[in-house]
Amino acid sequence: MIKVTNLTKKFAENAVLKGIDFEVSLGEIVVIIGPSGTGKSTLLRCLNYLETPTSGCIEIGGIKVDSRSATRTQINKLRKQSSFVFQNYSLFANKTALQNVAEGLITVWKMPKPQALQLAKDKLIQVGLRDKLDQYPSQLSGGQQQRVGIARAMVAKGEVILFDEPTSALDPEWVDEVLAVMKTLAKQQQTMIVVTHEMQFAREVADRVIFMEGGYIVEQGTPQQIFENPQHKRTQAFVKRALKY
Ligand SMILES: Nc1ncnc2c1ncn2[C@@H]1O[C@H](COP(=O)(O)OP(=O)(O)OP(=O)(O)O)[C@@H](O)[C@H]1O
Ligand SMILES: [Mg+2]
Repeated sequence: MIKVTNLTKKFAENAVLKGIDFEVSLGEIVVIIGPSGTGKSTLLRCLNYLETPTSGCIEIGGIKVDSRSATRTQINKLRKQSSFVFQNYSLFANKTALQNVAEGLITVWKMPKPQALQLAKDKLIQVGLRDKLDQYPSQLSGGQQQRVGIARAMVAKGEVILFDEPTSALDPEWVDEVLAVMKTLAKQQQTMIVVTHEMQFAREVADRVIFMEGGYIVEQGTPQQIFENPQHKRTQAFVKRALKY
């Protein structure tokens, strides 16, 4: 389970998150939508302390960290509870697909190398990359690189996978194959928090949609509630624009 309580984040004088509260249950698929610059990435990054919150409490998988009293040890434990899929893949250029996926298992989770490589191979096969295990990122298409990124997140033993616009850097032709892998993960009830502009994906796959604007959660609900019957004016305006595309 994930519980975020009164999370705020300021960059110098710029208040980006202004008091965020939400919970995510095990197996839940949550999609976060909202205008550019509204704090969606900052929120995800705070969840695993890639950014340090200014105040607030984050609990994931039984590890609870209050930013006022956070210790290095607590932060490291919290970080292990989530894994990130980035917009720009963030793969090691000098490592093969297999090595990229196995790396964290060996260094972070201290798994014996043969076991890590086997698990990495299994996940790469699951995301459809059986014949790309030994290729370097530069030898892979954008969609293939992002599937390596997802396989890397899948092998981690944390509770949740955080996706920050996983398809927005892709050529249109590769978007569907990445969304398909994410749909498969969702069907397996992998807990996921996904920031995306893919409204169709949000409608089909999300258990819950959160609409953020200006550092706040303005509204949240089922895809049907948010897309068909939004209550807040700002949600209505955003959804109307977003669904045009
Ligand atoms: N490291 C940083 N230092 C200073 N300001 C930052 C930093 N990261 C983000 N910001 C600011 O925080 C605000 C929110 O940014 P964030 O990237 O979280 O928005 P977003 O909702 O993810 O937008 P987008 O949809 O464009 O990705 C912006 O005003 C941005 O300039
Ligand atoms: Mg962003």
